[in-house]
Amino acid sequence: MRLPESQVAVLNAASATDERTIAQLAEATDQKPETVTGAVFDLRDEGLVSVTETAAESVELTDEGVEYAEEDLPEVRLYRAALDVGDGDAVPMGQVIGASSLGGPQVDIALSNFARKGYGHIDSGELAPDAGADPDADEEAAALAALAAGESVDADVLDQLESRQLVVRHERTIRAVTLTDEGVTALMEGVEAAETVDRLTPELLTSGEWEDVEFTEYNVEADAPEARGGKKHILRQTADRVKDVLTGMGFAEMEGPHADADFWINDCLFMPQDHPARTHWDRFALDVPPMEDIPEDLIDRVRDAHLNGVGEDGDGYHSPWSEDFARAIALRGHTTSLSMRYLSGHEVGELEPPQRYFSVEKVYRNDTLDPTHLLEFYQIEGWVMAEDLSVRDLMGTFEEFYSHFGITDIQFKPHYNPYTEPSFELFGRHPETGELIEIGNSGMFREEVLRPLGVKCDVMAWGLALERLLMLMYGFDDIRDVHGTLCDLDLLRETEVLK
Ligand code: PHE
Repeated sequence: MRLPESQVAVLNAASATDERTIAQLAEATDQKPETVTGAVFDLRDEGLVSVTETAAESVELTDEGVEYAEEDLPEVRLYRAALDVGDGDAVPMGQVIGASSLGGPQVDIALSNFARKGYGHIDSGELAPDAGADPDADEEAAALAALAAGESVDADVLDQLESRQLVVRHERTIRAVTLTDEGVTALMEGVEAAETVDRLTPELLTSGEWEDVEFTEYNVEADAPEARGGKKHILRQTADRVKDVLTGMGFAEMEGPHADADFWINDCLFMPQDHPARTHWDRFALDVPPMEDIPEDLIDRVRDAHLNGVGEDGDGYHSPWSEDFARAIALRGHTTSLSMRYLSGHEVGELEPPQRYFSVEKVYRNDTLDPTHLLEFYQIEGWVMAEDLSVRDLMGTFEEFYSHFGITDIQFKPHYNPYTEPSFELFGRHPETGELIEIGNSGMFREEVLRPLGVKCDVMAWGLALERLLMLMYGFDDIRDVHGTLCDLDLLRETEVLK
């Protein structure tokens, strides 16, 4: 029988009576464990060896565990210091800690374990060691020493050490190999090593050698090293796709500052200056000089809308309006600031209807972090300016937009915004949980917004959350899976955004 060299070596090193582990075979054959494992699987498939698998656990001391194995547990050091300083009596805590030369987080570790293990009591700032305690009989200390010496220890103590992060456990599979009867027979009949080649080369063909060589089988199930190159984040990929879709729908992209004057973020939107969203609770104010470059006549018109309202029977907010407050700079809480800049003519000049603009950009809110809220997220902002727009146009636009992402069951709920009338929140159904989740906010800009900007036709507008769109597309339910330190790396690595 002819077999690849590595298999012949393993077959010769294996025994019919004693199990040999992969590690032992690797050593005996002077081959890498991976090579031996591969050879063993092939030999098993050929019926020449049998393999048993057992799960084994190995325990390793962490750096902290090693330190305590060498220098005693912090609670033991504390106990000994207390005895030294007070001769068995209660002593002020500061004094004991000083004498123990424990520092940093070890002080807390020492104190909590001191009490837990009955080394004594801590009362009104004093530490009273228990004369009956015996640090030499400390189970955890003994277990650490045993582990450091390569011995095994009791499961309960091990759990305790693990919860203190003094050890880590690793699960492994130990494979042991024995020769089968066929294996023994094959060996007796003689097994020859065949030179194996893993690819057919022109040289093999021209020399005719291909007739004699053994080709390694192509094993599609073999573990292969995973290649992880850099990759565009799925949020960015989806943002790009959103841009493509909106561009395809005839929209042009807006650009503008992340840190902007409150004037553009709120005042233009007829948001009263004492609106709760404009307090320091919700807003990331920046300590930078106020914005100078705002058209004076626009400021006058916006101020007038706030004070007196717009139109014959319009009404204002009956509260003071401060230009200083309007010029102050903050991180934008929505990208509707960009819509205001463009609609006012400040960015690309006066716009004649029809017009369509969008942006897919970051916004910042002083929220509390939870599974659906982040301090920053991406908003898909957009607006359409035209004569005679209706709510049907708004809904139709969303239906068309979301259908590009396979989402066809958008629901609308009447809503209130100071700047749109009517206003609608958008909801979509989460593919995994079945819950309706809010995915955006929209409406038709009010006269109080449009008139000061100098826009004389209708404008429908929206702000949609990019992260929520992703949730509907991929079914994850915690926004922190894609953002920040808790993000799910496998999800980010494996998810593909379809074009
Ligand atoms: N600015 C709104 C938000 O952040 C979205 C919106 C934009 C609503 C434009 C209506 C019109 O929720």
